[in-house]
Amino acid sequence: MKGLFARKPLHLIMQEPEVEQHKLKRVLGPWGLISLGIGVIIGAGIFVLSGQAAATYAGPAIVLSFIISAIGCGLAGLCYAEFASMIPISGSAYTYAYATLGEFLAWIIGWDLVLEYLFGASTVAVGWSGYVVSFLKDFHINIPDAFCQAPLSYSVTDGWNATGAILNCPAIFIVGLMTALLVIGIRESTRVNNVIVIIKLAVIVLFIGVGVFYIKFANWSPFLPDNTGQFGSFGWSGVVRGAGVIFFAYIGFDVVSTAAQESRNPQRDMPIGILGSLVICTIIFILMTGVLTGIMKYTNLAVPDPIAVAVNAAGPGIAWFRPFIKIGAIAGLSSVVLVLLMAQPRVFFSMARDGLLPAGFARVHPRFKTPYIPTILTGCIAAVVSGLFPINILGELVSIGTLLAFVIVCVGVLVLRYRHPEIPRVFRTPWVPFVPIAGALVTLLQMVFLPFDTWMRLFVWMAVGFIIYFFYSRKHSRLRILSPEE
Ligand code: ALA
Repeated sequence: MKGLFARKPLHLIMQEPEVEQHKLKRVLGPWGLISLGIGVIIGAGIFVLSGQAAATYAGPAIVLSFIISAIGCGLAGLCYAEFASMIPISGSAYTYAYATLGEFLAWIIGWDLVLEYLFGASTVAVGWSGYVVSFLKDFHINIPDAFCQAPLSYSVTDGWNATGAILNCPAIFIVGLMTALLVIGIRESTRVNNVIVIIKLAVIVLFIGVGVFYIKFANWSPFLPDNTGQFGSFGWSGVVRGAGVIFFAYIGFDVVSTAAQESRNPQRDMPIGILGSLVICTIIFILMTGVLTGIMKYTNLAVPDPIAVAVNAAGPGIAWFRPFIKIGAIAGLSSVVLVLLMAQPRVFFSMARDGLLPAGFARVHPRFKTPYIPTILTGCIAAVVSGLFPINILGELVSIGTLLAFVIVCVGVLVLRYRHPEIPRVFRTPWVPFVPIAGALVTLLQMVFLPFDTWMRLFVWMAVGFIIYFFYSRKHSRLRILSPEE
């Protein structure tokens, strides 16, 4: 029983990146890390979910929902930044938990991160498929529904049903393409990410810069529509529910921490990458939703491509811009898939190095210097998931998984402050214990508001994880089987 809470000594953790067979290429500077963050944050949340959240929950006050969600993420982001500057290892939250809360909780968080990264990539791949199909349709190229939609659907009343579709082929395609890129190399992958980030930022800046001239103030009135009498349907409760829904838009800033072993100066640059990308994206989200709800009445925004629809509605003057919006969105979603698929194998890699997963997961490709085995495995599973399941089920699972990871990280920072105050921290979370406690509470609260079904899926997922842990990982844990000298 005691072994479950065995903590991995920090000096051992810090030596790991220097072990030759585990060495990754250190190519990322502060801008590379910020770009990685922006690459993974700006995606389906703003391009797809923002319009629906404005139309059904908050109206133009969706801007406030984005601010509330940013506060919750900011608190967790400050905790991530302290850990990432102190323990700059690719396992991210998994490694932080191993050092502070013990092996079993570390396993739980590592297993839980699969929900954020692997399932996150699948979710966004499904969103990518939707935008690509709509873009091709504008050019009269029609992909039959049977080959671009999920064969399974789920609703609370009817349960699981077959939709008649066969497979979501575009979603599988984008996952396959990004996996191939990731196997070839981190440098190549980050180069592609940088180009994509420039394209999506250019489209966003144009949307804000041009769209601002088409704002009709009448569309912002009422800014906070009256509550309809139902909790969460407009009014202040709608703003809070909207914040929960668009939480998905912020997911990803923590992914920066998984690239710690590919960062040139992780102690200094990790906090810059995590907090920098979070601040930039928060500003972008607030401006974008302000312009979006100013151009078009919020009641008309419940569509899968709200930004493109708003541009269309603004008038013939900027209709030329519509295909560019779609290209920006497609590019944006591609980089989210890319970076999430990059993050997952790096967590598996760290878990395998500790013996909690088979050793093959920690093997680095002799030529490409990438963790190619977990990368390919992650790609295959993500492809199958994105090909079969609908976006709403996947999205909620991703949110609950991510929130759980945030809670554990916030608690971990607090624990380590008391247990190991002597360890140098290049970045220190301010106002401890207030920030970590508030971060944990806010994220916990957001979890409580998620549907019961999502909780059940989380329990099932965790149960599978426990079985693997007790039948495999516990017996192979290097912390247990190696003597202190080794
Ligand atoms: N934040 C990412 C997105 O919105 C996951 O697509």
